[in-house]
Amino acid sequence: MPKILVTGGAGYIGSHTCHVLAENGYDVVVVDNLSRGYQHNVPRERLRVLSLSETSELARIMVEERVDAVVHFAAYIAVGESAAEPELYFSNNVGGSLSLFAAMHEAGVRKLVFSSTAAVYGTPESVPIPESAPYAPVSVYGESKVMVEKILAWLDELRGLRSVCLRYFNACGAAWQAGLGEEHEPETHLIPLLIRAIETGKPITLFGNDYPTPDGTCIRDYIHVMDLARAHVTALEYLLAGGTSDRFNCGTGKGHSVLEVLRAVEEISGRKVPYVWGARRAGDPAELVANSSRLQRKLGWAPQNAELTGIVTSAWKYTTRRSD
Ligand SMILES: NC(=O)c1ccc[n+]([C@@H]2O[C@H](COP(=O)([O-])OP(=O)(O)OC[C@H]3O[C@@H](n4cnc5c(N)ncnc54)[C@H](O)[C@@H]3O)[C@@H](O)[C@H]2O)c1
Repeated sequence: MPKILVTGGAGYIGSHTCHVLAENGYDVVVVDNLSRGYQHNVPRERLRVLSLSETSELARIMVEERVDAVVHFAAYIAVGESAAEPELYFSNNVGGSLSLFAAMHEAGVRKLVFSSTAAVYGTPESVPIPESAPYAPVSVYGESKVMVEKILAWLDELRGLRSVCLRYFNACGAAWQAGLGEEHEPETHLIPLLIRAIETGKPITLFGNDYPTPDGTCIRDYIHVMDLARAHVTALEYLLAGGTSDRFNCGTGKGHSVLEVLRAVEEISGRKVPYVWGARRAGDPAELVANSSRLQRKLGWAPQNAELTGIVTSAWKYTTRRSD
């Protein structure tokens, strides 16, 4: 089976993807500096604790391990933090990616799946958003992903580096039976924050109840992390079979409002979520929902866990089992 190098494999989506890759018989080596990830997410023998910036060492690992393709998750991911520390975000997300691509060039590895994001679209003109919508990021984080997508387009042309950019919408849920789940620090994602509010009794702030949506709160496309993980395996199969570079949205095509998610958490936990209202946050569009029909049509991927109840149940089980 092909050997896959996974950057950021000790993080949330990367660890779930490594799990699915291993289930599908792939041989995996993880590169992660553990700045935002956890040793316990990766079998020790698979982990190389290393930063993306270490170009020569990355190239050495790729040659030594006979790597066939790379799945690139490693990045910083918090929109608010990216406004406070733009240099850090451009340096890690863009500079780190450039170092990785240079190492791939040195080692002769020419296939890559890249973690992109709905944030490349900013505030879209219409929803569901197709891939043809223009780049219009409204955050440093989103801009850093646009930059990498553009670099990859040049490397396709100049280096023959074939890549698939998967633009994820809101990743959520957990493979709790495998001991995997969401553990960001800082945590900025709605479902773990709602669960945290129940656990700590400290109210969560919900940003904005005057959006032009049925209940006034923002609508997002919540995609189960295991469906995302499967999308990566599908994208790798496509590239390894000689597929050309492409970009795909990765979501369910169904939107849920903040209040709908809150009610789902209350229903599954049997507890009330303490919350307070805050003002809208700058750059938060009313609605972000993916049109993922190209990914479904071209690569044959479809979400298998699109129901909000199942997603929230898996996140709840992961958190409550961990604190047992
Ligand atoms: N979580 C989401 O909802 C979401 C949505 C869209 C896109 N994404 C993208 O998916 C990817 C993974 O997100 P996640 O939620 O798993 O994040 P995460 O923070 O859990 O994982 C990122 C991992 O990368 C590692 N890392 C960061 N910088 C590194 C560096 N310079 N060298 C080596 N390792 C480094 C961290 O230690 C961490 O383990 C990111 O690229 C993110 O931008 C995530």
